[in-house]
Amino acid sequence: MSTSYNRFLRVKSIPLKVNLFMWRLFLNRLPTKDNLHRRGVLDASGLLCATSCGQEETLDHLFFQCNMYGRIWPLISGWLGFEAVFPGSVDLHSTHFSGLGGASKSCNVLLISIWAAVLFTIWKDRNNRIFKNSHATIEALVEQVKFHIFWWLKSSFILFDFDYSVWRANPLNCLLQRTWSHGNHPLSKVSIHKATLSLLDLAHIRVSPSLLGLKGQTSEWVTVEYTSPIPSIDDWIGVFSPANFSGSTCPKENGRVYPPLLCSAPIKFQYASYLNPQYNITGKGILKLLLINQRSDFSFGLFSGGLSNPKLVAVSNKIAFANPNAPVYPRLALGKSWNEMTVTWTSGYGITDAEPFVEWGPKGADRVHSPAGTLTFTRDSLCGAPATSVGWRDPGYIHTSYLKELWPNRIYEYKIGHKLKNGTYIWSKQYQFRAAPFPGQKSLQRVAIFGDMGKDEVDGSNEYNNFQHGSINTTKKLIQDLENIDLVFHIGDISYANGYLSQWDQFTAQVEPIASAVPYMIASGNHERDWPGSGSFYGNMDSGGECGVLAETMFYVPASNRAKFWYLIDYGMFRFCVADTEHDWREGTEQYKFIEHCLASVDRQKQPWLIFLAHRVLGYSSCICYAEEGSFAEPMGRESLQKLWQKYKVDIAIYGHVHNYERTCPIYQNICTSEEIHNYKGALNGTIHIVAGGGGASLSTFTSLKTKWSIFKDYDYGFVNLTAFDHSNLLFEYKKSRDGKVYDSFKISRDYRDNLACTMDSCPSATMAS
Ligand SMILES: [Fe+2]
Ligand SMILES: [Zn+2]
Repeated sequence: MSTSYNRFLRVKSIPLKVNLFMWRLFLNRLPTKDNLHRRGVLDASGLLCATSCGQEETLDHLFFQCNMYGRIWPLISGWLGFEAVFPGSVDLHSTHFSGLGGASKSCNVLLISIWAAVLFTIWKDRNNRIFKNSHATIEALVEQVKFHIFWWLKSSFILFDFDYSVWRANPLNCLLQRTWSHGNHPLSKVSIHKATLSLLDLAHIRVSPSLLGLKGQTSEWVTVEYTSPIPSIDDWIGVFSPANFSGSTCPKENGRVYPPLLCSAPIKFQYASYLNPQYNITGKGILKLLLINQRSDFSFGLFSGGLSNPKLVAVSNKIAFANPNAPVYPRLALGKSWNEMTVTWTSGYGITDAEPFVEWGPKGADRVHSPAGTLTFTRDSLCGAPATSVGWRDPGYIHTSYLKELWPNRIYEYKIGHKLKNGTYIWSKQYQFRAAPFPGQKSLQRVAIFGDMGKDEVDGSNEYNNFQHGSINTTKKLIQDLENIDLVFHIGDISYANGYLSQWDQFTAQVEPIASAVPYMIASGNHERDWPGSGSFYGNMDSGGECGVLAETMFYVPASNRAKFWYLIDYGMFRFCVADTEHDWREGTEQYKFIEHCLASVDRQKQPWLIFLAHRVLGYSSCICYAEEGSFAEPMGRESLQKLWQKYKVDIAIYGHVHNYERTCPIYQNICTSEEIHNYKGALNGTIHIVAGGGGASLSTFTSLKTKWSIFKDYDYGFVNLTAFDHSNLLFEYKKSRDGKVYDSFKISRDYRDNLACTMDSCPSATMAS
C-alpha cells in the first residue's frame, strides 16, 4: 500500500465521499478501464481513455499523464502561485503536489485537499463522458475545482469567512491567513522566527509592581508604561515568561542555524495603542494587564514592525510572583468509586524539592494528610509543533491526591500543602466541597454540562487561538450559580491551547472557582487529542501537537487508562457514560465494549437517569458543517451506537463540538418516538439528543434545512442543567451564558416499571422457536 495513503485519508476538510474515493484510488480499486479489463468486465477493445486522447485508460494515465486532463495541473498550480513539473504516477505526484508549500504540515493538508478536489473533478468528468456523453472544458473543470475547495473549507472551518471572489483571486493569501482555522497556526499571528533586535536608546518599557502575589494571591494586575521615539500604529507589547526570552534559550535544531531572537511565543500580547489612541503621535502609552502565577518570572517586550516583521525595541524589567512555585488552580474530579474525590493541582515543586499532600477533613472535624502523586512531561512526550516548538513551556508539576471513604453529601474542607526539605510548609488557601451522593441515593442532584468552552483574556489582550470570547460569560454564570451545581461535565475542547502550553495554566486559573468547589469532569475533544499518526481516530492537527498529553495530565478522570479517555460516573440517581470520540467507537472496538458495559450494568431502579456524553456529535445536529456533507452527525456515530442507546434506554445523549445549542425529540433511527415537547411521561421509546457546544468558542451556523427531529435551536453561548429531584422526576434546562436564564426546558416523569417495559428494539429478542 502506498505510503502517501495514510496522509491522504481522513483529511478534515474533505467530504466523506471524496475521502472514500481517495481510499479506493490509493488501493487502485477505482473502476478504471484497465482494472475492469483485469476483472474480465471489459474486453481489450474498450480500453481507450474517455478523452479520446488515444491512450489506454489506467489510473496514472487518466489523472496524471493524459494530455487532456493533464492540462489541469499547471492551471491549478499556477493559480496557487507555484511553477512546477509533476511526475506521472499517483505516489510521486501526490507527494510532490502536497509538498509545494514546503514543510508546513497544515499547508500540506490544504494542498492535499486541493489535490483531492482535482482528482475528484476529473473522475466525475470522466464518468460524465462515458455514461452521459457530456463533458466540460478544461477551463470549466478548473473553475469547478476552485469552487469545491472553497465550499469544503467554508464548511470545515467556521472562521473561513472569505468571499468567493477574494478566494478565487488570492487562494494562497487565504490559505496562509490561518487565523480562520481552529487548528494550529503555522504562521502564527506573531512571526516569532522573524523577530529582529534593534534596541533603541530612547525606547523604554517598565512594569510595576515588581513583586506580585504578596498576599498569597495567584493573579495580579500590573501596569506597563512605555515610550518609543519612532511610534507606529502597529507597535505591540508581548508578555514573556520565563523572563529570559532571548534566542540563547532555544533548543538547537541544527548546529549550523543561528537561533532566532525569539523561540517561544509570548504568553499574550497587546497593541501599544490599545487604550492609548495618541500613542502613534506621542510615543507614550500605558496598559494594565492581568498576570497569573505560572511558575516563572515575566518580562515585557515593546515591538515595532507589527506582528509579521517584529523588531524588539525595548525590554522591560523582570517581575515575578513572590513564590512562583506555589501550588495553584486546584481541580476536583470524582474518583474511581463514588466515595472518592481527587484533587489535582499544579506547582513548581518536583518530588525531590518537596512532598505534596492534601490536608482535609469533614467541616469542623479533625484533619488528615493524604499524599499526592506527581506527574510532569518533557517536550519529547508531545507529538509536534507548535507544542514542541514555539508553544512549548515548562508545565511544572501536576499533583493528584485521592481523598477516600467520604460520607455521602458531607461537606469537606481541604487545603494543599508542600513540605519542603527544610521542614517548612507551603500552603494554598482553604477550599471546600460536598462529597458525592451514594449510588441510588434519593436527594437533589444538579449537574451542569457543556462543551467547547476555552478561555479568554479579561484584560483585553490577545493570545494565540483567541476565539473563545464567550467563555468568560459561561464561566461567570457557572460561578454565580455554583450553589446550585453539584457536578460539572466539560465534554471536550477544554482549553483550546492547541499546542500553546501556557494557556492550560490560564484555563485552569479561569475555572478555578468552579473546579475547586465541585468535581470538574472532562471528556476528550479534537482540540486536546487529534494529531496525524498519533492513534487518534481523526488524523487532523487540531491539538497543535499536544496529542492528548496535556488533557490527560492536567485533569484527572477515572478511566482505567487515561490515554483511553472513556469512563463511567455513578452520581446518586444518575449514571453517566462518557465516550471518547477521538478514539474508535465502532462495533468490535475496546471502546464499544466499554460503552455497552456502561449502559448495560446500571440498575435502573436505583439509577434511573442514564446519560450518554461525548465530544463530537454521534447522534443528531443541524450544524451546517454536517449538512454540507449530507449528514447530521459524525459518520459512523449513530450507525454504530443507536442500537445500544435504544436497547439500554438511554434517556439523554449530550455532545459538544458543534458550537451552538440544539435539542431533538426522543428519537430512534431518524424517527421521533414521541410528539410531546415539554412534559414526557412514561417511557421515551427513544433517546433525546442534545448539542451543548456553546461553552465559549466561536459559534457554529445551522443549516437552513428543516428536520422533523429538531425541536429547539439556539445560535448562542450557553450550557445545560440536569436536575434529578427523585427516581421519577428529571428536569432539563438550557441556559444562555449571557443572562443565565432558561430558554429551553423539558421534564421527564416516569416510574421504574416504565423502564422495564419493552419498546421497539429495547428488549432482548425472544426465541421464536416453533
Ligand atoms: Fe470546539
Ligand atoms: Zn471539537
